Amino acid sequence: MKQSDAVSHTRGESQYVDDMPPPSEMLYAAVFSSPVMHGKITALRIQDACSMDGIVAVLTSKDIPGENQIGPIIQDEELLAGEEVCYVGQPVVLVIGTSPEIARKGVRKITLDIDELPAVTDPKEAFLKGKTIGLPRTLILGDVETTWQQCDLVLEGSCDIGGQEHVYLETQRARAIPLEENNFCIYSATQGPSAVQKHAAKVLGLPSHNIEVEVKRLGGAFGGKEDQATSWACMAALAAWHTKKPVELVLGRADDIKMTGKRHPYKSDFKIGVTKEGKILAYEVKHYQNSGATADLSPAVLERTLFHSTNSYFIPNVKIFGVCCRTNLPSNTAFRGFGGPQGMFVIESAIAKVAEKLDMPREEIQAKNLLRENDLFPYGQRAGNCKSLLTWNKAVEKYKLSEIRKRVNDYNKTHFETKKGIAVMPICFGISFTTTYMNQASALVHVYTDGSISVSTGGVEMGQGLKSNIASIAAKGFGVGEHRVKIESTNTTRIANMSPSAASATTVLNGNATLVAIEQVLDRLKSAVAKELGVQDKGRITIVDEKVLCDGCKTDWTWDRLIQTAHLNRIGLSAHGFFATPDIYFDKVKEKGHPFAYHIFGTAIIEVTLDCLRGTYDIDSIRIVHDLGRQLSELADRGQIEGGLAQGLGWMTIEDLRFNEKGQLLSGALATYKVPDVYFMPDDIELTLLEDEGNALGPYGNKAVGEPPLMYGIGVFFAIRCAMRAFRPQKEFAFVSPLTPERVLLQLYVD
Ligand code: MTE
Ligand code: HPA
Ligand code: MOS
Repeated sequence: MKQSDAVSHTRGESQYVDDMPPPSEMLYAAVFSSPVMHGKITALRIQDACSMDGIVAVLTSKDIPGENQIGPIIQDEELLAGEEVCYVGQPVVLVIGTSPEIARKGVRKITLDIDELPAVTDPKEAFLKGKTIGLPRTLILGDVETTWQQCDLVLEGSCDIGGQEHVYLETQRARAIPLEENNFCIYSATQGPSAVQKHAAKVLGLPSHNIEVEVKRLGGAFGGKEDQATSWACMAALAAWHTKKPVELVLGRADDIKMTGKRHPYKSDFKIGVTKEGKILAYEVKHYQNSGATADLSPAVLERTLFHSTNSYFIPNVKIFGVCCRTNLPSNTAFRGFGGPQGMFVIESAIAKVAEKLDMPREEIQAKNLLRENDLFPYGQRAGNCKSLLTWNKAVEKYKLSEIRKRVNDYNKTHFETKKGIAVMPICFGISFTTTYMNQASALVHVYTDGSISVSTGGVEMGQGLKSNIASIAAKGFGVGEHRVKIESTNTTRIANMSPSAASATTVLNGNATLVAIEQVLDRLKSAVAKELGVQDKGRITIVDEKVLCDGCKTDWTWDRLIQTAHLNRIGLSAHGFFATPDIYFDKVKEKGHPFAYHIFGTAIIEVTLDCLRGTYDIDSIRIVHDLGRQLSELADRGQIEGGLAQGLGWMTIEDLRFNEKGQLLSGALATYKVPDVYFMPDDIELTLLEDEGNALGPYGNKAVGEPPLMYGIGVFFAIRCAMRAFRPQKEFAFVSPLTPERVLLQLYVD
């Protein structure tokens, strides 16, 4: 099955926000942003910009008719900075001109005076200064304090984990069209159309029903548009409100990288206690999240870090502390994995430290501590349908781990300048928004009289293949061919109060909502045809391959005839469906609950070769056994697994965000910020999908796939580390990511 947009993408015909033909008299906005990390604005000079030819309006926080507030969880984020700026790149002034070039020229005419204030970029320093967001949280299982003395070995260490830029192909953008009577239509590249609607309404001081948000598709998002598409859409709307003209705001790549938040860097301290055989008895970890300047989604991201802090291991005594630390960097945000990867990196580091001390291969310690059915997570949920051991054993046997290990060891005995390294990386990722109420979705289904079908959901296509998945679900649901189904754009007038397309749950939530809607139409259709056939029980009717069957036998009713007859008999051919994930909850006071509908498991084996003279490395092979439910679209799923993996590998290795002491991003362009390309990826990627009985909660047994594979990438850090240790066996290397070639080289040679 092809990705549903494959043809139009390939021809360049697919439309994104700024591919739509511009309406007449469209204006263009550009953003003037803070040049400093922290300070009070004492003077703002916009006059020179205002008087430029082609500049139509110059707007500041004073020009906001409603509230200057767009914080999604905590109300701490201004749309345009008023008195104080808190990071380099924070929007202060919006300049609107007759072309993008003129608007950008206008931006360069603006000057301001700032009384600079002290700034913080380090999360631990922020914590010590009391600059935190929300309250710290602690999850507890068993009792670590009384367990340390029973351990044969207790080790402590710390991790310094880097952030990650999203590098979606389509940068942040929106177009706002003023309609009659103070209504606006906003075309936004957002994962969360309802968030855009809600905040644009608030900023303009209008009811939500005055704002229509329309999303056709995104050129990638990866979490970077879950929440942070909102501000640009609100700015476009603000400009349209003032000028009464359509206004488009498109960030150039440099502005996008400078102004938007990234994956959260963390600093974490761990303490781990084990028996001499390597059984983990106790684990304590303290996570200091670098949240950036505002709360954004940081508290929710931190929560997922807490929940994933033991990855796919069972540890009987655990204490997990986490805190969001406010720093003077752009506000960090959702990024594929949503805090999970950071929690998992730290436990993998702790295990590495134990293995190195006990002089055992890391995988031996990992294998001894894998999660089993019914084991308790520190957040109170038990592991159900646990595939931790199963995927591990399958990977070890199928890909012959002991042979790889031997090959690596033999190679290292006979090679001096290059060394091989290997790591096994198991994953366990919880599926559901950790914020329980967000696990809901709606769909709107129409059948037209020619038998063609239109499906709208609250899900956004961002390249993950949602449209293909929903089309497949709708076609199966009605029993017709996929050519009958069209997946519509995502629009707030058709679907209200949507959760963002995120948490890997978009197909599960919106697919189920689609099925609920389809059931209603089908039920009416079956009643109608049962009556025509003189059958009492409509349960005997089914539709298969566009043919109506009774007790599984052919009738002379087809889909076309059925629809036409139903319409003539005044039977409604539309329905709205609603779905909410059952049986999930979380009690934040007790810090216990059942936050996830289910977990995704899997195991990867990664092999690398390190050039010890240069610090460069090659990823030789990656072998994965992944837990997937029944597939809706095999190509989409493979794409998600390989794409997620690439992003995880990049995060751990070459994607390096460097800020100078003034808070300016040094790697703020694609020439200095490197993402993995095809050459970086191993030639040899093998993927085994579990032959699963499916997932009772997913549409047609489908399971979430979007985020979990990213975390296989964590393994590459430990594979490279393994090769580094083969070169310098006595040296204790740091747990600092990304492990760039430069960092490898320095660690190999500088003590
Ligand atoms: N794949 C593509 N091609 N583009 C994206 O932006 N986002 C990822 C993942 N895969 C993304 C992607 C993220 S962060 C999430 S949460 C999921 O897709 C969202 O889509 P899903 O819920 O349908 O899996
Ligand atoms: N994932 C993505 N977005 C979210 C989540 C989550 O778990 N919780 C709240 N927003
Ligand atoms: Mo994904 S980080 O939940 O958008």
